[in-house]
Amino acid sequence: MYEKLGTAAKFIQSRKKVTPRVGLVLGSGLGAFVDRVEDATIIPYDEIPHFHQTSVEGHEGRLILGKISGVDIAILQGRLHVYEGYAMEDIVFPVRTLATLGVDTLFLTNASGGVNESYQPGDIVLINDHINLMGQNPLIGPNINELGPRFPDMTRAYNEDLRRIVKDCAEEMDYNLQTGVYAGLLGPTYETPAEIRMMRAIGADMVGMSTVPESIAANHLGLKVCGLSCITNMAAGITGEKLDHSEVKEQALKVMETFSNLLQSAIAKIGL
Ligand code: HPA
Repeated sequence: MYEKLGTAAKFIQSRKKVTPRVGLVLGSGLGAFVDRVEDATIIPYDEIPHFHQTSVEGHEGRLILGKISGVDIAILQGRLHVYEGYAMEDIVFPVRTLATLGVDTLFLTNASGGVNESYQPGDIVLINDHINLMGQNPLIGPNINELGPRFPDMTRAYNEDLRRIVKDCAEEMDYNLQTGVYAGLLGPTYETPAEIRMMRAIGADMVGMSTVPESIAANHLGLKVCGLSCITNMAAGITGEKLDHSEVKEQALKVMETFSNLLQSAIAKIGL
């Protein structure tokens, strides 16, 4: 695995000689952020050794290298999910590759269902913690000591300095940024109303099918992690409406402008 990361990173650097500082994973429907990248080099995942192609609509499956507000960035436009049948090791491989390229700060974004009833579809939520309900962990198996410790600390999995920066940016934009706990489930079914009541009882504010594996792998690597979620729908049973992926993509598109402004200003602040 460690050697495979070296191979992938070498290939990417043969396409563009860069040392990105900031990494970004774009979730469902949020891929349009890449339009803001200057001096972009685009590499489809299927050209990169050991990368897999994502099968989900709304996920492009491309690595974009370039600059956002002068900051060198590597963007994963589209991610792999456990429900697609990939092994955890494959799901976190792209994030580990970004770290191998030099990334020390990672933004993870996603679309999620709102469990907290003070949220509304279209809200952007800063993730302050997560609950892993996938019944799996990307670090299962022999520890790769070159990447990180056997038992990584997760006390501050979502970096406090980055959270402060994002909150400051939201304030400057006069945007009412919500914060909350993200529960990561396997999917691909949406939850039942009973499961959502359980989510609320155990302290989840939003639910989704991603982010947790990447966050765990990134914390293992010692990266600073920041999570931003777009509430695309209220979770099952709250409004009585049925849930549908096209609604998720549609709602994500609607918040794209605000979401991109917030993300870009946070990245710019990191570069200062
Ligand atoms: N549940 C799980 N994942 C999701 C949801 C949801 O309601 N909305 C967007 N991703």
